[in-house]
Amino acid sequence: MRIFSGIQPTGRKHLGNYIGAIRQYVAGQDRGEAIYCIVDLHAITVAYEPAVLRESVYDTAAILLGAGLDPNRCIFFRQSDVVEHPELCWLLSSVTSYGELNRMTQFKEKAGAQRDLVSGGLFFYPVLQAADVLAYRADEVPVGEDQRQHVELMRDVAERFNARFGETLVVPEVRVPEVGARIMDLQQPDRKMSTTGGTPQGTVYVLDAPDQVARKIRSSVTDSGTEVVRAPDKAGISNLIDIIAAVRGTAPEEIEREFDGSGYGAFKQAVADAVIEYLAPVRERYTELRSDEAGLERTLAEGAEKARAIASDTLRDVREAMGVGSGHEVRSGQ
Ligand code: TYM
Repeated sequence: MRIFSGIQPTGRKHLGNYIGAIRQYVAGQDRGEAIYCIVDLHAITVAYEPAVLRESVYDTAAILLGAGLDPNRCIFFRQSDVVEHPELCWLLSSVTSYGELNRMTQFKEKAGAQRDLVSGGLFFYPVLQAADVLAYRADEVPVGEDQRQHVELMRDVAERFNARFGETLVVPEVRVPEVGARIMDLQQPDRKMSTTGGTPQGTVYVLDAPDQVARKIRSSVTDSGTEVVRAPDKAGISNLIDIIAAVRGTAPEEIEREFDGSGYGAFKQAVADAVIEYLAPVRERYTELRSDEAGLERTLAEGAEKARAIASDTLRDVREAMGVGSGHEVRSGQ
C-alpha cells in the first residue's frame, strides 16, 4: 500500500498539525510505502517572503525528521524539486470543474483573509494538491479533518480522468485519525487551531518552550462547570480531552473516567504535562537537525530523486492517455 501526504512549509507547526497529521505520517512508515512532501508551491498562493519560504522548508523538514520521519523508510522531499507536480496539475485541470473549485471552503476562508491579492493560484490550489497525490498513484492520504474536502475532490478528479481517458490513476482513500482530527484553538474552541486563523495564545506550537505550553493550556478557555466530560456545550474541555487522549494514545472515555471529579485545574495541569512530555523529544532533535542545513538539503534532494522516478512514470502514462506529446518520448531525467 502506498501512502502520500503533504504539509505546508512553516516553522510554526502546531499541535493540531502534529496530532492530526504528523503522528500519522510517522506511523505510515510501518504500514506501507510512505511518501511525504513539503509543499512550497502551495505556499506561494498567499502573500509570502521568498527568503523566508526557503528557510521555512528547512524548519519544516527538521520538525518532521525530529518527529520520526526516517528517510530510509520513507520518501521525503520538497514539492518544487519535482516538476511533475505542476505539470500534472495543469493536465488534471481539464477534468476539474470550475464549480467544484468554487465550492472549496478553504479557498473561501483563505480568499477572505487576503489583503492585496486573491491569486489565481489560491483558486487552483486543490488541483495541485490532487496532482501531488495522483502523481504517485497513492492508495491512502493521511490528513486532518480540514483536508477531507480536498481529498474528496481529488477522488472525483481521478475518477473523471479514468472515465474520460482510460484507467490510469488510482482513486485514493482519505485517512483521518479517530481522535484529534480537528484540534481546536485553546482560546476560541469553536475554531480550529491554525497558524493563520487562530489566536496566538490559543495555539500550541511544536517548538514552544515547556513553560509557554503550560501557560497556554492552563489559561485555555473552558466553561463554568466542573465535570471533565465531552459535551456540545463544553467545547474547551472536549478539546482538551481529545488532546490528552491523542497524546497518550488512549480513548477519550478513559480520560473521562480517570479525571472524574478531579476538577478543571488538575485536569489542565495533567494535559499540560502530557503535551510537554510528548513534544520534548521533537524539540530537542529539531535543534540539532536544523543546524545542519546542508544535511537537510541532501536529504530532500535524495528524496526528490526517488519521488521523480515514480512521478515521471505516471506522467508518461497520463500524457500518453491524453494524447499530449508524441506518445513515445524519452523524458528528461529518465
Ligand atoms: P497544512 O500544512 O495546513 O496542514 C498539515 C496537516 O495538518 C492537519 N491539520 C490539523 N489536524 C487537526 N487539527 C487541526 N487544527 C489541524 N490543522 C491542520 C491538516 O489537515 C493537514 O493534514 N493542503 C494541505 C497540504 C497538502 C496536502 C497535499 C495534504 C498539499 N498537498 C497532498 C495531503 C495530500 C495543507 O495545507 O496542510
